[in-house]
Amino acid sequence: MTLLENRTALVVGGASGIGHAIATAYLKEGARVVVADRTATTDFDSVPVDVTDENSVAEAVAAAGARLGEIDILVNSAGILTEAPVVEMDLATWSQTLAVDLTGVFLCCRHVVPRMVERGRGRVINIASQLGIKGGHGLAHYSAAKAGVIGLTKSLALEVSGRGVLVNAIAPGPIETPMVEGITEEWKTAKRAELPLGRFGRAEEVAPTAVLLASDPGGNLYCGQTLGPNSGDVMP
Ligand SMILES: NC(=O)c1ccc[n+]([C@@H]2O[C@H](COP(=O)([O-])OP(=O)(O)OC[C@H]3O[C@@H](n4cnc5c(N)ncnc54)[C@H](O)[C@@H]3O)[C@@H](O)[C@H]2O)c1
Repeated sequence: MTLLENRTALVVGGASGIGHAIATAYLKEGARVVVADRTATTDFDSVPVDVTDENSVAEAVAAAGARLGEIDILVNSAGILTEAPVVEMDLATWSQTLAVDLTGVFLCCRHVVPRMVERGRGRVINIASQLGIKGGHGLAHYSAAKAGVIGLTKSLALEVSGRGVLVNAIAPGPIETPMVEGITEEWKTAKRAELPLGRFGRAEEVAPTAVLLASDPGGNLYCGQTLGPNSGDVMP
């Protein structure tokens, strides 16, 4: 038996990396999936979206809803990562990261969750980061956005859990995806040395946590939580 039979999912940021692995795992578990991303993909039924643009989010959610009927599961995995120390960071770099990594999550929740509340059921899974818990050199903008995602997740969970909608976050450690390809080998080597497991994770090792949070009964008791598939980088 598959875990997500007769469920529908919108995976935002599903064209690559962790979102792609989650969309793949959801399909394997029997869900019907639409991916929304700014990058086109032929791997899934997909709709274009720029999560920083509210009109674009509204259109993507409407298009996904039309294809799926209803959206049972929303995954927010779109994100960007750049590096700059605070003392050198310009406002545009800060603002763009907050716009994609935090406001984008808010906008997707804002446009999907009202219908979930009306229906009295739904699951929202926001991809945060362990850097939102521990911070990172040159990553204040990213860490602040991801800490924001964790706070947004808890607050939204408080608001809608009584109406049948469960909202949780996943805070992965370093995962081998296109996002980390650009980081220097020196940084990666130092980072690996810090990790109790001594290695970065793979997107396929994060996706099962997103399956758990979406599933019944496995995910039924998670509310406002941040789960950490992070190679031991953070032990809250
Ligand atoms: N890779 C890691 O080490 C790691 C660790 C912790 C958290 N995360 C988080 O996981 C999520 C997925 O990252 P990933 O590693 O799979 O990276 P990735 O670059 O492979 O995937 C990110 C996706 O987001 C999409 N995207 C970016 N900006 C967008 C926008 N404005 N509108 C719509 N889509 C947009 C990209 O097109 C891409 O498909 C991100 O939120 C990231 O911050 C990644």
